[in-house]
Amino acid sequence: MDFWQVVDNRYSVRSFDPAVEVPPQTVERLLQAGIRAPTAGNRQPWHFYVVRDLAVRRGLAAAAYGQEFIAQAPVAIVVCADAEQSAGRYGQRGRELYCLQDTAAATAQILLAAVASGLGGCWVGAFDEHEAARVLDLPPRYRPVAILPIGKPVGAPGMRASRQPLERVASFIG
Ligand SMILES: Cc1cc2nc3c(=O)[nH]c(=O)nc-3n(C[C@H](O)[C@H](O)[C@H](O)COP(=O)(O)O)c2cc1C
Repeated sequence: MDFWQVVDNRYSVRSFDPAVEVPPQTVERLLQAGIRAPTAGNRQPWHFYVVRDLAVRRGLAAAAYGQEFIAQAPVAIVVCADAEQSAGRYGQRGRELYCLQDTAAATAQILLAAVASGLGGCWVGAFDEHEAARVLDLPPRYRPVAILPIGKPVGAPGMRASRQPLERVASFIG
């Protein structure tokens, strides 16, 4: 699949085939794609938790207000921001902005890499951070910012989420 096919084929997958495993080498490829993302000052203010344990995935699904597909996917990657890593060089701007931009860039690359690997995933951002941190027993410096259930999509993509037309969201100067 070339880059544009990957971009065009990505959509939020919320139904997974529980029988199709995602091998460790594939997860490593996804993480490699994630850590290739640009970061402010190359601070790489992140940590990734790979969760296969069903009880923990159930805990994450509960923390995400019952988004059960997190437990259905064979693996979930939890992207955590390390705000102090960014703040070390950039102070408040690093703490409040860069670490979130950096982890968002990594998240997008992981999701695209999943598509390139014949898989799918969903960016889950609606969850109780404290509950997710408790379930994962996170060190206090890691803030969970995205839960990414990954697996083999089940069924057809269905109706794709629409986008606003480009002329409404882009301005061309000069
Ligand atoms: C920051 C962020 C948070 C999101 N949180 C959730 C979520 O909690 N649950 C969910 O099912 N989808 C979530 N999504 C996925 C969006 O709903 C989805 O990307 C959007 O509707 C466009 O659809 P598409 O990804 O299929 O193109 C989130 C996406 C982003 C970027």
